[in-house]
Amino acid sequence: MGPPDPILGVTEAFKRDTNPKKINLGVGAYRDDQGKPFVLPSVRKAEELMMARHMDKEYAAIHGLQEFCQASASLAFSENSSVIKEGLNATIQGISGTGSLTMGAFFLRDFFKGNKEVYMPAPTWGNHIPLFKRAGFAVKQYKYYDPKTCGLDFKGLLEDISKIPENSVILLHACAHNPTGVDPKPEQWKEMSDLIKSRKLFPFFDMAYQGFATGDIDRDAMAVRMFVDNGHRIGLAQSFAKNMGLYGERVGAFTMVCNSKDEAQRVLSQLKIIIRPTYSNPPIHGARIAQTVLGEPELREQWLKDVKGMADRIISMRTRLRDGLKKEGSTRNWQHITDQIGMFCFTGMNPKEVEKLTAEFSVYLTKDGRISVAGISSNNVDYLAHAMHQATK
Ligand SMILES: Cc1ncc(COP(=O)(O)O)c(C=O)c1O
Repeated sequence: MGPPDPILGVTEAFKRDTNPKKINLGVGAYRDDQGKPFVLPSVRKAEELMMARHMDKEYAAIHGLQEFCQASASLAFSENSSVIKEGLNATIQGISGTGSLTMGAFFLRDFFKGNKEVYMPAPTWGNHIPLFKRAGFAVKQYKYYDPKTCGLDFKGLLEDISKIPENSVILLHACAHNPTGVDPKPEQWKEMSDLIKSRKLFPFFDMAYQGFATGDIDRDAMAVRMFVDNGHRIGLAQSFAKNMGLYGERVGAFTMVCNSKDEAQRVLSQLKIIIRPTYSNPPIHGARIAQTVLGEPELREQWLKDVKGMADRIISMRTRLRDGLKKEGSTRNWQHITDQIGMFCFTGMNPKEVEKLTAEFSVYLTKDGRISVAGISSNNVDYLAHAMHQATK
């Protein structure tokens, strides 16, 4: 029997708890202020349009729906970028973020001429490690999070990156770093981009939260665009799970930014050769939703509001939690709750404190002290602040 998944195990324990005040802060899915799953209004409208159009259920191409692939790449790089204008992107529709990362990792396994070593931030999203190992990479990590400040260990990060052997792959979270909620500032990204270039590393971006960090899709894509403008050729995995709330629809994309249109076409042909025996071609429904939302001007406008609404609710819950802790009389520095960004907050609570929070207050979270801010609402934020203070005082 294999071990259960560490994150999904938290939800199982939560379900068994009969305390009416219980809170699940383990899952990485957005909840509205009533604590309910949220289907975006723009997504609902796109589905209505799709129904009215009586669309067929034929197979997509091996690389997915072409219009979706272009819309996805344009969202990442911007319509006016050289990547889009010159056709430098080889983009495939992937099975959400995870499947897109996997196809990217398989492509690099087969074609990357450098070391089969990938360097990831410490810590990183738990699935990154087995995913790249399965693709045949040795996984190593570079310093990222500083537990003393609950912020970025920028000095340690630069030191570690400058020691990575040339021609390795470096994995970067484009925004809203999971699990820490800590992102580099624009000027820090610039320094990283220069260093990564001088070390001849291949940047592989994971962008699972575009729009979710700041509420602004362009601001959240800043690092990806800056690297490309700085001359990098990159790999990029995108997910529409969070920013369109399409979790179970499994919508994502993988892009290789190439040196020429011709090279992009050749790369795409090789990606198709990987996909064909793996899952043949991707599912169509979710990609059609995303394509419709991005392609119909009215829906796109609505979606930008929907994304901002989600990001703003999360940001406001961060403030209320921090204020609540202060009101409870906590003398700890909780500044990082509002400094960190995106769906997750690395609270800095140790495993003992986490255990107490769960055992005595029925608040469920992963042992590393990470909470999903999306699980906090007006109804539970005061109780959570009280519980966190009791567990940490
Ligand atoms: C950093 C990161 N990458 C990728 C994913 C992929 O998620 P999905 O496969 O559901 O799109 C997630 C989801 O939690 C994530 O946090």
